This record gives sequence, C-alpha cells and structure tokens, in this order.
Amino acid sequence: MTVLDIKGLHVEIEGKEILKGVNLTINTNEIHAIMGPNGTGKSTLAQAIMGHPKYEVTAGTVTLDGEDVLEMAVDERARAGIFLGMQYPSEITGVTNADFLRSAINAQREEGDEIPLMKFIRELDKKMEILEMDEDMATRYLNEGFSGGEKKRNEILQLTMLKPKFAILDEIDSGLDIDALKIVSKGINEMRGEDFGCLIITHYQRLLDYITPDHVHVMMQGKVVKSGGAELARKLEEQGYDWIKEELGIEDETVGQEA
Ligand SMILES: Nc1ncnc2c1ncn2[C@@H]1O[C@H](COP(=O)(O)OP(=O)(O)OP(=O)(O)O)[C@@H](O)[C@H]1O
Ligand SMILES: [Mg+2]
Repeated sequence: MTVLDIKGLHVEIEGKEILKGVNLTINTNEIHAIMGPNGTGKSTLAQAIMGHPKYEVTAGTVTLDGEDVLEMAVDERARAGIFLGMQYPSEITGVTNADFLRSAINAQREEGDEIPLMKFIRELDKKMEILEMDEDMATRYLNEGFSGGEKKRNEILQLTMLKPKFAILDEIDSGLDIDALKIVSKGINEMRGEDFGCLIITHYQRLLDYITPDHVHVMMQGKVVKSGGAELARKLEEQGYDWIKEELGIEDETVGQEA
C-alpha cells in the first residue's frame, strides 16, 4: 500500500491565501471524492499537489509514502506516480496525442527501457477501444479542437495508459454526455485495485452512481470541513451545502454555490 498524505496544507495564489490547512490521507486501493461550492479551492488543491508554479505552498506537507512531494519538480511528481486529470486540459499544437502519450510513458521509464512501439500501439488501440474513442484522436494534435467531452475522455485515456499510483481527477465528469459518463466511469473503475488510489473532484452525485467512493469529503473556504462515506454525497445532492454551514457555523462566502 502507498499513502498520499496531505497535512496542514496552506496555499497562496498571487499573495491571496486559498487553502487554509487541508488535511487529507489517501491510500492506494481507495477512491475519495471531494465536493464543495465553487471557488473553495478544490482545483487549487489539485494543482498544488501536482506542483503548478503559480500555487505557492506557504505551510504544510504533502508526502508519498513519507517522501516529500513538495520538494519534487513536476516531472518527478509524475514519475513518482501522481497524475492530474485537469478541469481544463490544455491544447498543444504540433504534438500528436499518440506522441505525447508515448513520451509521457517513456518519461516514467528508465533510459534505455523505452516502451516498444508495437507494444505501445497495441495498448493504445485497446484503451481507445474501451473508451470508445475514434481512431483519429490518436493522430490529432493534443486536445486541439477536441470537444469538451472529448478532452475529458482523453484525460482518462492518459490515465489508463500511464497507470499512475494516484490520480486526481478534477471535474472529469463535466461536459460528458450520459453515455460518455458511463464509459469514462468504466475506464476509472478498471483502474481500481491494490496499486491505485484516486481523488475525484466533482459537483454531482451522478458520477458517483457509477464510481462508488470509499470516502467523501466536503471542502469549504479552503479546508476539508466534513468527511463521510458515499451517503454524504447523496445527502449533498439532495440538500446542498447550507446544512453543513449551519452545522459548522460557517459564515456565507462571497463566492458561494449560487455565484
Ligand atoms: N491563477 C489565479 N489567480 C487568481 N486567483 C485564482 C487563480 N486560480 C484560482 N484563483 C482563485 O482561487 C479560488 C479557488 O479557486 P479554485 O479553482 O481552486 O476553486 P474550485 O473549488 O476548484 O472551484 P470550481 O468548483 O468552480 O471549480 C477562487 O476564488 C479563484 O478565483
Ligand atoms: Mg475547480
């Protein structure tokens, strides 16, 4: 088992404190979901774990089996087994999807131990078939002109090809049609197992109908304020966030759920 441990994490963006002491422990073999109103810092948490330079960690620790993740460069974090499926995947002109994936896989491997081309192609074909992606998605430039849903599906293709230890999936369900939601969920569920842990950031129960989380957390005002099981997500879907604010005596934010 591997442990991704986040303790007392404080993060600033351009001098403004967004995360105010996040505590979260994710083991492999577990699926965690994190929910919370818009603007409470969910994507900030994801970016800070991955090492986006704009997000400055001012206090706290992130460790992977005791190793300091915050000390690692972004590519080292990827090599250590952390993967981020982004809320807004970037388009990269001039690099085909397949070339990007092969480079990413080889970056995880030792020099001289690159994945053989035929093996790569076979695996790519297989994964694209599972995700019901058009063949031409492999040869098109990375995310360029991809529809919103195609970009999300492509993030899951990367996930299943790279097989990281931990995946943070930021609103992977947004923009997916009903069939795509099921297909993407299938892709994630196939990753489940001893060597895989996942943090799913989502606003809606519907994704969690297909991927049953072991733990559900609520983030508000830059902190994890409540944790529970799958039933917590169902309650949030029915009742929104007001009851938690009342329970915890949290003042309304300027950026709230309705904003
Ligand atoms: N690059 C940036 N510059 C300035 N402020 C930023 C930047 N990135 C994020 N923020 C601010 O940090 C706060 C948290 O943003 P974040 O994207 O983490 O929210 P979120 O919980 O993911 O929201 P959503 O549910 O809408 O995706 C927001 O108020 C946002 O405006
Ligand atoms: Mg977000």
